[in-house]
Amino acid sequence: MKRIFKTAALVLAVLFSLLLAAGCGQDQNSAKKVSLLFPDPAAGGPWKNVGPLCQKYVSEAGYDCTMEFCSSPQNQVEQLKAAIAQKPACIVLAVQDAMIFGDALKEATEANIPVIAYDRLVMHTDAITYYASFDNSAVGEFMGRYVEEKLNLKSGAGPFTLEFVAGDPSDMNAPMFYQGAYDKLKPYIDKGQLVIPSGQAAFKDVATDGWSADKAKARMETILRQHYAGRNLDLVVAANDDLANAVLEAQKSVGYNGLPTLLTGQDASDKALQNIREGRQAMTIYKDPNVLCAKVVRMVKAVVEGSQPAINDVQNIKNDVKTIPSYLCIPAIVDKENIDVVKK
Ligand code: BGC
Repeated sequence: MKRIFKTAALVLAVLFSLLLAAGCGQDQNSAKKVSLLFPDPAAGGPWKNVGPLCQKYVSEAGYDCTMEFCSSPQNQVEQLKAAIAQKPACIVLAVQDAMIFGDALKEATEANIPVIAYDRLVMHTDAITYYASFDNSAVGEFMGRYVEEKLNLKSGAGPFTLEFVAGDPSDMNAPMFYQGAYDKLKPYIDKGQLVIPSGQAAFKDVATDGWSADKAKARMETILRQHYAGRNLDLVVAANDDLANAVLEAQKSVGYNGLPTLLTGQDASDKALQNIREGRQAMTIYKDPNVLCAKVVRMVKAVVEGSQPAINDVQNIKNDVKTIPSYLCIPAIVDKENIDVVKK
């Protein structure tokens, strides 16, 4: 009889420890899951390269990391909800549209899943634990500074014609890029050294829905036809490389001879590097994604393991609900002179 009891106790103990181990294993695995959600690469920008790169960084830090691109803003909301249902230890979100994630992110808060915003700020939510990006005002300011220097504006040169091609109003970075550049150039617009023949200077007039190169091209074609007959287009402050290339395409399609004397961009895309090498685009802003991904890994570790993240701004980054501790990396100006600094 005693023997039967002993054997039963042994079996129970083994079963219990197996159950315990299975349970722990599950916890450990789910504690290590990280879900990355990125914008639609078909809408341009650096995402096609940045998505896999970021996944590589997070995976190499020891996490079970998945990465998904969305196909539309609404699709990304669905992806977020599906990711929350998987109960990852952390979600890294680069939004396609800053305005529409409030409700879905409530579910992340309820499920205790920390969310890190990548590159773009998210509005109408208090669910963002950390934000990692580049200094987006500096991106615009660097464009303005480059223009100021290359066109000798400080020494009174001009007048030069100028047009702005800004980004998507549903991306909180876009007005910052625009404003950074505009503020730098405003004194020269006021003095008449820079003139805007289209008269389109406010962000709402120069913005490009969805960062669409097609829309930017169409707008620039109209501007060229209406305002540039017999006139040179000297300067275009384009918010990124896709929009810069759209300006060049528009010029080609209306049969406009010549190039803008100075065309800006952002992202150091392959196309832009080629345009810079061949003299069609003056500069781009390089935002090394390796630098940003490394900061994001620190933030992931912080929320999952309780370690210290790298933070360099605790007061300036605010959405409409709260101030978000952030790390803002410093972008770099790249032109023909230093084009080799871009890591490809
Ligand atoms: C990013 C840029 C990018 C743009 C279009 C912005 O939020 O900061 O790097 O060119 O979106 O995708």
